[in-house]
Amino acid sequence: MRGMMLAGGAGTRLFPLSRVSSKQLQPVYDKPMIYYPLATLMNAGIREIHLISTPHDLPVFREVLGDGHQWGVDLSYGAQPEPGGIAQAVVIGENFIQSEPFTLVLGDNIFHGPIGLGREVANHDGGAVIWGYPVDDPQRYGVIEFDEFGAVLSIEEKPDDPRSHLAVPGLYVYDGTAVVRAKDLKPSARGELEITDLNLSFLNDGELRAVELERNITWLDSGTHESLLDSSNFIAAIEKRQGYKVACLEEVAFNMGFVSGDEIAHTIEAMPRSPYRSYCERAILG
Ligand code: DAU
Repeated sequence: MRGMMLAGGAGTRLFPLSRVSSKQLQPVYDKPMIYYPLATLMNAGIREIHLISTPHDLPVFREVLGDGHQWGVDLSYGAQPEPGGIAQAVVIGENFIQSEPFTLVLGDNIFHGPIGLGREVANHDGGAVIWGYPVDDPQRYGVIEFDEFGAVLSIEEKPDDPRSHLAVPGLYVYDGTAVVRAKDLKPSARGELEITDLNLSFLNDGELRAVELERNITWLDSGTHESLLDSSNFIAAIEKRQGYKVACLEEVAFNMGFVSGDEIAHTIEAMPRSPYRSYCERAILG
C-alpha cells in the first residue's frame, strides 16, 4: 500500500516559531516532527510515500528527507499552494494514488505503541478505516460516536458539544474511491475540504470501519506550543528511560528489512559525529 503525509497548512498556531520553519519540521525532542509520522508509515511496511506541503516549504523537506533511498523508501513530493483542507490533499495526490488504496497520516500526529496499522494495511479489502482515541478535550478534534455494538453513529468536526470523548486521530486508510469522493466535497464554513466530510462519505455508503485505539497507545497532536512541548517531553521521557529512540528512521528501516546492514552502515558513516549517530552505531551496528 502507498502512504501520504500531509505537512502543509498555514502553521499560524505556532507563530512566531512558524517563521523559522514549517510546523512539521520543528523539533520534537531530538528529531524533526515529520520523522514520527514517517516512522508510523514505515513500521506498517509502507515504502512508497508522497509528502504534500506548501511550495515554500517543499524545498526544505526535500533537503531534510531526500528521496528516501537511505531508508529504503521511495519519497515523492507534491505541492498544496493554499491550505484548502486535509481532504484537498487527497485530490492533489491523485496521480500518486492511482486509484489504489493508501494510508494518509497528518504530519503533526505522533503515535507510540502497537496501533496495528501494519495489520490494517495488510488486510485492507476496501472502504475506509479510521481510529478513535479517548481524549480529555474532544472539541479540538473530529469526534466519533459508536453504538454499543461498535458501529459508528456519527462523526463531527470540532463539535461544541461532543457526543463522545473519542477523537479521530490523523491516520486514515482509504480505498481508491477517496479521490472521487474528495472531489465531490463542498468547502466547509471555514473554506476547507474537511477530512471529516470525506469520512462521512464512506460512512454514508456503509464503507467505513472505525477501530478504538487502546489506552496503552499514545497519540499526540503537536500543533500548538503546548502540545509541541508535551510531545517533546513525552519522547524525551521514554527515550531517557529505555535508552531506545522513538522514530529513529535508520533503525526502523533496518528492522523492517528495507535496507541491508552494509547500506545502513554507509548511511551512518555519512552522519556527523553526534549523539544520534552514536545511538545508530550502538542500536543498529551493535
Ligand atoms: O490531529 C487530528 C485532527 O486533525 C482530526 O481529529 C481532525 O478531524 C482534523 O480536521 C485535523 O484537525 P486539526 O485542527 O488538527 O487540523 P490542522 O488544521 O491542524 O491540520 C492538520 C495537519 O494537516 C497539519 O499538519 C497541517 C496539515 N494541513 C492542514 C490543512 C488544513 C495541510 O497540510 N493542508 C491543509 O490544507
